[in-house]
Order: sequence, then C-alpha cells, then structure tokens
Amino acid sequence: MEILPVKGTHDIYEADAAVYSDLENRLIYMALLHNYKEIRTPIIEHTNLFVRGVGESSDIVNKEMYTFDDKGGRSITLRPELTAGIMRSIVSNKLYANADLPLRYFYLGPCFRYERPQAGRYRQFNQFGIEAIGAPNYLQDAEVISFGYHALFILGIDNVKVYINSLGDEASRARYREALKEYFAKHIDKMCGDCKRRFEVNPLRILDCKVDEDQEIIKDAPKLKDYLSNESKLYLNNVISLLKEVGIEAVIDDNLVRGLDYYTGVVFEYHVDKVEGADNVGALGGGGHYAHLLKEVGGPDLEGVGLAFGIERLVYVHSLTHKGGYELGPDFFVIGMNQEIIDKNFSLADMIRSKGIAVEANYEVKSLKSLLKTAVKKHAKFAIIVGEEEIEKKRLVVKNLRSQEQTTVELENFEATLESLLNEYEQESAKLALEGLK
Ligand code: HAM
Repeated sequence: MEILPVKGTHDIYEADAAVYSDLENRLIYMALLHNYKEIRTPIIEHTNLFVRGVGESSDIVNKEMYTFDDKGGRSITLRPELTAGIMRSIVSNKLYANADLPLRYFYLGPCFRYERPQAGRYRQFNQFGIEAIGAPNYLQDAEVISFGYHALFILGIDNVKVYINSLGDEASRARYREALKEYFAKHIDKMCGDCKRRFEVNPLRILDCKVDEDQEIIKDAPKLKDYLSNESKLYLNNVISLLKEVGIEAVIDDNLVRGLDYYTGVVFEYHVDKVEGADNVGALGGGGHYAHLLKEVGGPDLEGVGLAFGIERLVYVHSLTHKGGYELGPDFFVIGMNQEIIDKNFSLADMIRSKGIAVEANYEVKSLKSLLKTAVKKHAKFAIIVGEEEIEKKRLVVKNLRSQEQTTVELENFEATLESLLNEYEQESAKLALEGLK
C-alpha cells in the first residue's frame, strides 16, 4: 500500500531543491553582510515556551501547535516559529552575559503549524529570519526592515510592498485594549467562539478573526492609531523616515497587528504587489519589535526586533517571475559501452572529480544512443565517450551536448582541455542568455 506524505507537508527535490538552496544561500549572504551570526535551536521545545512566548490568546498556540507528551510525560511542541526558541537559547546559554549588544542572530529551519493547507500555507514549512536583541532603538528596527526589503531585492523579487504599524507603548496598548473591550462588549454575543475566547484573554486578537460574519463588527472597532502616545508616533515616524533614506516607502496599515502576542511597538510585513498569483500566498515575511519576550522566558530585560520569511512563499513568488535556469547536471557524463570499459571509467570519473569537475558515469551496459540520451536528460554539458580505440590510443572523445561538436582529447593533458572546453561552454551560455534578454 502506498504511504502518502502527511497532509500539509511537501517534498523538495532536484531543481526545486536547487532553488531553495540558492535563495537560502543568498539570504545567508545578506545576513553575514549585516554581521548576523548563525544560531540553530532544537525543533522540539517545552510547550510552555510557546504558551508564554507566542501567547495564550494567539491562534498559533490555541489551534495550530503540534503538541504531544513524550515518554517521560513532558509536554513537548514542534516549534511553530523560531523567535521564542532563540530567546530561550539566549537565556539557557547566557549569550547576553559577555557580549557586546545587540546580539545579532540569523536562522533557517522548519516550523510546524496545524493550519488548513492552501496556497502558500503548509503544516511543515521553512523560515529564514534574523533577531537583534539589546538595541531598544528605532535605528535597529529600521535596519531589520530594510534588511528584509533588500534581501527580497537580492532574491530577484520585485514589486515588494512594506506595510508598517505601531502597537504603541504599554500605556497606549492598555488604553486601546480598554477601548476594544468596551466596543466589543456590545457585540460579542453575536461573534464566533474564537472571538468570545479572545475577548476574555486579549481583545486585540479579535482583529485577527477571519470569519466573514464578524468582519462587519470588526470594521467599526476603534483604531489603534487613535490611542498611540506621541512617543510611539514619533518612534514610528523615525523608522519610516530612515527607511525613506534608503529608498523604501513603508506604508502605514492601521489594521496590521500581527498574530503573535509578543509584539510591542513597531510591526511590519512584506507583500508582493502587481504580480499575478502572488497575492494568494499572503505575507512573504513579517516581524516586529518585542520589548519583553526575553524577560518573559527568564532572561534579562532586553528588547529585541526581528523578522522571518516563509521560504516556501519566497520560492513560489520567485517561480512566478523566474522561469527555468535551475536545471542541474554534471559537467561531464562519462560513457562506456561494455563492462570492461565501464569498470575502467570508474577511476577515470574519480580522477576528473578530483580536479573539481562534476562528473557522473554509467554503470550499466547500454547502447551509445541510449547513453547519449541519458546524458542529455541529466543536463550534462558534455559526454565523454570511451571506446576500445580510445583506450588503446589513450585519448577521450568529448561531445558538446548543446552544439553536438566532438573533440578528441589526449589523456595526458585531459585536465587543461576539459577546463578550457568548460570555459568555452560557459562563455557561450552567457552569450545565449544575453541574446535571450534582447
Ligand atoms: P509569522 O508572521 O507568524 O511571524 O511568520 C513569518 C512568515 O512565515 C510569514 O510571513 C509566512 O511567510 C511564513 N509562514 C507562516 N505560516 C506559514 C505556513 N503555514 N506555511 C508557509 N509559510 C508560513 C513569525 O513567525 C515571527 N517569529 C517573525 C518574527 C521574527 N518576529 C520577530 N522576529
């Protein structure tokens, strides 16, 4: 019986995997350029970390976590995001103790959320993110937002819109919460079960509700911007002005509150505009400032700011505008048509590889025609054909699989010849790519 993949998961292989690696490597390059250091934390954490960190009133904690008791009876959760685990790690390893602040980390890895699978929404997905901890400053917030914007540019994703908002300081949020309570108290009887629960725990989360019938009521709820203190407004404006200086037009979105409870102050999201299909997947990434998360998980009172991208969404949006170009293949496919030659080719392939040239060879006896077909299917640039005559005369026949030209290469200087053949091939590829652009 066929065993199917778990709902909401997906396999990534071959050319797709190459796109993932390419985008991830470019994100890592951006992180290193900004002096973020890598951090890797476990996929499993104590459930309590997310309940306290991400927040009891969030949809993630309430409905979406993969939680189970381990054999020792501990409640364990597969991480739904990485920020809380990184804060836990900073505390567990006292990373704040001897460091010059801010701590700056980047990360990459799988997350798990029991959501309804749909376009751009998986139950296992990958995030790349950065966190800067210990810089309670609008400059740091602006740097993180600009990092994300420029990273998307480096990935070749255009038409990016940055939406920004402020959740305000403690006093602003307390006043806003009261205003929401007062407003929703009059309507809550008619609202969905989730909203009734949110009303008790954190009325701000009612604004995350996706139930159609509730939207009429939510639409007329008090607006956060009317409750922001002057300091919060000034902070937000400072961030927006700095972004302008580096060419980013951040658009204020009053309804942007983000679904995680740890945010305080500035929050933001990246969306793609004007690319057909891109709006279906939701935000490419998002983040914000969190003043108390580190303290909440037992650390010192240091503020942080960070962002995370969903890699699946980046790959999807990238695929809408970048067709092809990721066909992976070896430089050379070594062909032998009888067992004796195939055995000899084993060490020939090994020798070519030792020169840093990518090679695959056939291991089964087949006709030249079918082996050449295989080489083409594997996207090899050249086939190296080894026959009885070649062995005898200590030479190789190399066939360019794009132009079909054949060259005879003396075995004693094969290395230099293979390299120059490869160089010529790359130059030709660049020329063809340029012609394609015209
Ligand atoms: P988030 O908005 O929950 O924030 O997730 C960040 C990104 O992960 C989303 O914008 C989206 O691209 C991707 N994502 C979320 N859920 C899914 C899913 N089910 N399938 C595919 N992609 C998904 C956070 O997780 C915060 N930790 C971000 C942050 C870092 N804030 C401060 N530091």
